[in-house]
Amino acid sequence: MPYAGWAGPIPSVNLTMIAYPGTEHFRAGKRTAQRHTYAPFFPVLQFNAEQQLFFGGNFWDSRATGYRLRNPDAEQSQGPPVDTQEMGNPDTACIAFKLQQAVYRPLFEVLWGKTSLDIHFPHDTEKICATPGGAAVFGGDPEPIKLSPEDRTTAQGVYDRWGQSIDAYEQSVQVSAFTSKFDAMLKGNYTFTADEMAGYNLFNGKGNCNSCHVDGRGTTLMPGQVDTSTTATANPPVFTCFGSANEGLPVNPRNAFYYQTKPDSFGFTANPFGFGYRDLGMGTFLRSGFGSGPNPNRTWIPQAPSVDGQFQVATTRNVGMAPPQCPTTEAPGPYFQKEFFHNGYIKSLKQLVHFYNTRDVKGIAFNVTSGHCPAGKTEKVDCWPMKETTNNLDMTTGMLGLTDQEEDQIVAFLQTLSDGFTTPYPNSDTFTGKCMTGGTAATQGNETLIPTPPLPPCPSAICGVPPLPSPPIP
Ligand code: HEC
Repeated sequence: MPYAGWAGPIPSVNLTMIAYPGTEHFRAGKRTAQRHTYAPFFPVLQFNAEQQLFFGGNFWDSRATGYRLRNPDAEQSQGPPVDTQEMGNPDTACIAFKLQQAVYRPLFEVLWGKTSLDIHFPHDTEKICATPGGAAVFGGDPEPIKLSPEDRTTAQGVYDRWGQSIDAYEQSVQVSAFTSKFDAMLKGNYTFTADEMAGYNLFNGKGNCNSCHVDGRGTTLMPGQVDTSTTATANPPVFTCFGSANEGLPVNPRNAFYYQTKPDSFGFTANPFGFGYRDLGMGTFLRSGFGSGPNPNRTWIPQAPSVDGQFQVATTRNVGMAPPQCPTTEAPGPYFQKEFFHNGYIKSLKQLVHFYNTRDVKGIAFNVTSGHCPAGKTEKVDCWPMKETTNNLDMTTGMLGLTDQEEDQIVAFLQTLSDGFTTPYPNSDTFTGKCMTGGTAATQGNETLIPTPPLPPCPSAICGVPPLPSPPIP
């Protein structure tokens, strides 16, 4: 929703179950809903042989590659309608079927042609589309609507055009707006406060954040080096290199996905592995593995072990956006509870920066799972649980040596990236829930921590698919 920077709009979900409930009761996804602002700016996924790194694509695991439509964002939007855990349509043709009946059908036809939706659907289509994907009655058939080959091609075309239309919307200035304090500052229409400016310099310097969340400036890598570069203004930065990294998040036992281990009323089991499930991010995608999408390019498959555990570098734009009624994400507030990173483990920007700052510091990094920090230690303050996977762990951050005040300054800078400063976002004030108050940002949400159960070994359906993870994942 706009008021959350187009991220998950329900504070209680952000605090507890992480993934958003799907259309079908008791189904939910497995990761945080990504903000779709600036998603259209990501290029088509490419493997850069010189750097041996992937850049581009959309989604936490880059599975919306743009390979087919040459548009990752359009392909990303094609995911949720047919995701069993999201909107749950059992066949992509359901989208064309529903568009035929939509009030905005004429708009679609104006743009994509008068006959663009001319498809003859069999009489049982409505019933099929009302049954969620994965239902046992379909017997695994991905195209349960029986269309003529011509109609199937047309329906696929509709689905593609529909994705492109959504991409157009997401790139519009109503969504990807470039109207933050930061943008005003670039133009000379806003002067950063002392803390915002200090935070910006730390973001580029001691914090090293812009080595991934690039803003066109240099990075001060060594103590004593002085960064004299200036921000690129020709094409305002979107604060991502479009690459991927493993930031070493721990398993978050709150994630609803771990609990969807039994067949639902349609005979569908989302996660038969329970807590054996491991989220290997891009590695699983390149293997066309469990819970991801098909990798369209077989020359990428051998790279899978080099990206296990990696997730896409999110844009930092709008990460701090909150509704005007509760204008911050940080306790004591009044604040709006968000969730951060792909598995929502982090609950405030203060914690996020503290994580980057201290993840690997001796005496703070513990070999325990979440909910099991030693007595006398406070999780997320002076205890970070073990990483879900250490394969390809990024070591750019983890021991930054930032002071408490410097962490706060980076938070202040991140908050300058919220759109709506120069031109208010439409509908940004429609949040009808309650703001939260009290506590501190450092321990925000800690009251909802639960002990992680013992983790079974990673099942072979995830960690035993060639090319095998290296080193093996326990
Ligand atoms: C090596 C690359 C890298 C560096 C360096 C880096 N990040 Fe990130 N950042 C990432 C990746 C990858 C993600 C997504 C990780 C995930 O969800 O597992 C991310 C996500 C984020 C997000 C978005 C979280 C969300 O939920 O949308 C913010 C904000 C952020 N980083 C801030 C920072 C700050 C501040 C620093 C410096 C202290 C920093 N990053 C340094 C790679 C990096």
